[in-house]
Amino acid sequence: MPRIGIELNNVCNLDCTHCFRSIYRGGAENNKDLFLPLEVLDKILREAKALGYQHVAITGGEPPMHPRFGEALDIIANHGFTYHFLTNARNFQKTLKAVSTPLRRSKLAGISFSLDGATEATHDKIRGKGSYREVVTAIATCQAVGIKPSIITTINKANRHEIDQFALLGAHLKVERQIFGHQNPTEHNLGEDLILPLPEWRVVERDIARVMTGFRHHISMAVGFYTDYFLPRCAPLTLDDLNIDYRGRLTLCCQLSNYRDGDKDGEDVVGDLKRESLSEALGKLMNLVNKVHQERLVMAADPVQKDKLHYPCLVCVERFQKSSQESMLVQMDGLRASIAPQPVRATSNP
Ligand SMILES: C[S@@+](CC[C@H](N)C(=O)[O-])C[C@H]1O[C@@H](n2cnc3c(N)ncnc32)[C@H](O)[C@@H]1O
Ligand code: SF4
Ligand code: SF4
Repeated sequence: MPRIGIELNNVCNLDCTHCFRSIYRGGAENNKDLFLPLEVLDKILREAKALGYQHVAITGGEPPMHPRFGEALDIIANHGFTYHFLTNARNFQKTLKAVSTPLRRSKLAGISFSLDGATEATHDKIRGKGSYREVVTAIATCQAVGIKPSIITTINKANRHEIDQFALLGAHLKVERQIFGHQNPTEHNLGEDLILPLPEWRVVERDIARVMTGFRHHISMAVGFYTDYFLPRCAPLTLDDLNIDYRGRLTLCCQLSNYRDGDKDGEDVVGDLKRESLSEALGKLMNLVNKVHQERLVMAADPVQKDKLHYPCLVCVERFQKSSQESMLVQMDGLRASIAPQPVRATSNP
């Protein structure tokens, strides 16, 4: 289903070691610029509706920290969109209250929780003390009140040995969907020794593929896994997922947006929807998508470059200069040692 991705804010109450966002880790006071203005949200959704988009995927930052979170949900629902959002589950009772009016509940498709350890020790090491219990409790609360919970997990060195346990926990918590993704490199998470060497990514993918068939709930991998197809059909590059950042700008992909190492905007920021229409900005996005595909055709013909295309998101991180040259070389060096491909079931970005 085509979706509008909205980064509702750029503020967070956690400081996760792996996080790829350049985020403000503090309170909402005096930081108005870090929240998407609701009149901009309203304008974007009106224009998106006219193009046939029907679902809003809300991310951030930590979305419920928007001081007008509930009103944002009203705008989404009043335009007739269904929505879901990603959360770290902190202050979940407050979040639950915010989604509980009849209008907001009627359009809520589900809530996705980020879980980065199948055990309390692993999760809290990455996300901070007390976080694991908050996530597990929030998922149980959702079950009790009839909201569909999902889990999204980013695999790294600290949790890669817990894949079976993650799937068992997902089954135990009766989640609707469970999505695994690779962790994209930043200078910070590389420095914290969280990024697996690339040959290990293939082994992780095999481990995930194994649990994907053994459980009743739906388990899949987010985009960014190994592929032999060199022209990516990910939702951003097919325009099935649009990403609007917290400043109201159309960008190529939520995985590249406001990247932690970057100090300036990249070419992935294509238009300011405060000043131009969604259609105008989409025209520019189409040109960028075309350019990305052309570039990948050139890379595919180059024996030195072509192996990189097995990991399309890493190519984007490098192409849009989101991380330091050195970080990427660490990743790419491992490619040659990668092992034979194995097909896995793909899903959209969470
Ligand atoms: C940026 S967070 C925003 C929503 C919310 N704060 C949360 O953590 O669920 C969205 C998702 O991106 C994931 N993420 C953060 N850093 C990442 C990285 N370096 N590579 C891949 N995914 C990452 C998070 O774990 C989370 O599931
Ligand atoms: S992953 Fe989510 S919860 Fe963690 S710091 Fe980033 S935005 Fe905040
Ligand atoms: S980073 Fe690039 S390849 Fe990966 S999902 Fe985004 S647009 Fe697609």
